[in-house]
Amino acid sequence: MLDEHRVDQSRRAICDLLDREDLQDWRVLDIGSGSGLSSLAMHQLGAEVVSFDYDPDSVACTEELRRLYGASDKHWTVTHDSVLDVAFMQSLGKFNLVYSWGVLHHTGAMWQALDLAQQCVAPGGTLLIALYNDQGWRSGVWRAIKRLYCSSAPGRWLVGALFYPFFALYALWLDLRQLHVPGTHARQYAQRRGMSLFHDWRDWLGGYPFEVAQPEGVVSKLAAEGFQLQSQKLTQGLGCNEFVFTKTATSHGK
Ligand SMILES: C[S@@+](CC[C@H](N)C(=O)[O-])C[C@H]1O[C@@H](n2cnc3c(N)ncnc32)[C@H](O)[C@@H]1O
Repeated sequence: MLDEHRVDQSRRAICDLLDREDLQDWRVLDIGSGSGLSSLAMHQLGAEVVSFDYDPDSVACTEELRRLYGASDKHWTVTHDSVLDVAFMQSLGKFNLVYSWGVLHHTGAMWQALDLAQQCVAPGGTLLIALYNDQGWRSGVWRAIKRLYCSSAPGRWLVGALFYPFFALYALWLDLRQLHVPGTHARQYAQRRGMSLFHDWRDWLGGYPFEVAQPEGVVSKLAAEGFQLQSQKLTQGLGCNEFVFTKTATSHGK
């Protein structure tokens, strides 16, 4: 079963980002639902949710959450599809909220995926996305490392052998810097994220395709489609920038 605290955390994060108390009567599209945690949170906030993912295991995981927590409610569907499938995306209709956290940059065609995602937002509706921050040459280096990791078993072995000790030393340094017992950072991280630090390292190295975007590029692309930026949470590091846009009610965007 899922830790109720994690669902609560997810509900609060979504409400904070949207500056709302609930999603009552909203129709929501969760693109790349992954574990399904955000879909579940949005469903519990009162939305009718349409979830899909390209990865069969992620679909199975989201489907399992729906079975456990939302099966009696027909207002949550889960399917195996791709955001890059134009016919599928156009068949979905319009949504009050299109939500895609940490997904579009893993499709291999980020701008095309963003374009297809934004077309699903109803006039006056909201687009909430998180995309990897563009760190210039550093992002290029990470792309090369990830490509090598995903290229073959020897590539995975080589990158793992180089980076796992490096990551472990960094975690140890974080503990020592704060005069914590070694292992404290890893334990606290697992409690906070719901996955072990080692799993997170694997997830990072294996996260390919990997594209990045500068915040200004995202804002100007969506402005051209009739979207106004409502809020953004930017990082200086290698994580994701989060954006909340509203589509103008009279938008002439596609
Ligand atoms: C980093 S996970 C994020 C999952 C979830 N949104 C979350 O916040 O936990 C990225 C997800 O994007 C999915 N994905 C990648 N390419 C996709 C595509 N073309 N269409 C739909 N989902 C895709 C992956 O299968 C994976 O579940």
